Amino acid sequence: MQIIKSVSSMQKTALSLKKKGRSISFVPTMGYLHEGHLRLVDIAREYGDIVVVSIFVNPTQFGPKEDLSRYPRDIKGDLSKLRKRGTDIVFMPDSDSIYPSEYQTYIEVTEISKPLCGRFRPGHFRGVATVVAKLFNIVMPDTAVFGKKDYQQYLLIRKMTEDLNMPVRIIGAETVREEDGLAMSSRNSYLSKEERGISARFADSLYIASGLYRKGKFSSPSMITRFVRDYLKKFRGIRVQYVDILNASNLKPVSDFSQDMVLAAAVFVGKTRLIDNRLLKARCQ
Ligand code: PAF
Repeated sequence: MQIIKSVSSMQKTALSLKKKGRSISFVPTMGYLHEGHLRLVDIAREYGDIVVVSIFVNPTQFGPKEDLSRYPRDIKGDLSKLRKRGTDIVFMPDSDSIYPSEYQTYIEVTEISKPLCGRFRPGHFRGVATVVAKLFNIVMPDTAVFGKKDYQQYLLIRKMTEDLNMPVRIIGAETVREEDGLAMSSRNSYLSKEERGISARFADSLYIASGLYRKGKFSSPSMITRFVRDYLKKFRGIRVQYVDILNASNLKPVSDFSQDMVLAAAVFVGKTRLIDNRLLKARCQ
């Protein structure tokens, strides 16, 4: 496994791989890797000859009151997991090489950034779009794999590549869950034992709601979001930030079940913010 730290060597390596006709599959990460990330690496392997994983905790996607300095890091552990999983190249730039002083160019995907997490994390998706575009220019992947746990991020990257004619195929990977249903996330490591226990109820709320939807128990999208809120009210220790149902491809509001939808929510368990979602298929009216 090759470890590359400089932007120019990553670009040179990517160009030389391309010259040799090797395709590049890419998994961008912020490190502190768990099984969810490693599944993305497995999927990337199916799509390309060379798998590149980046580890970069991107400062521009954290708000001023968010957890950039507290974000968990374990480079040694990450490299060992990636080596075992057969990663070819790990790209680990430092912050100054990605954002040198006087840096001033940003990308905004205007509409998809607005609802859900965008309402509560101003500037977050601008930071995500910008760093992913930069990483695409450096790693030059043919394919890039993103987890659907961050569903809004996945749609945003898809839209950005389409709008900016970036020659990168975006693959969305299913959410990987712990045994009790909690979606895997690096932030789960912040949870105390007691908080970890109660966090599974958050995953349950969306799972149960999607099951009831499939059985035809709801007559409108707002009934579903009300069900999730009422369900979560029973658990002291879970504070809802949002619960919403939107069109699954453009995140526009829906008023009936005629389109595929995403049921998405964010909660706080203690100080830790968790997000999750379930896709709901359109139903003939
Ligand atoms: O999903 C993440 O870990 C990050 O948002 C990403 C895509 C690596 C960009 O920093």
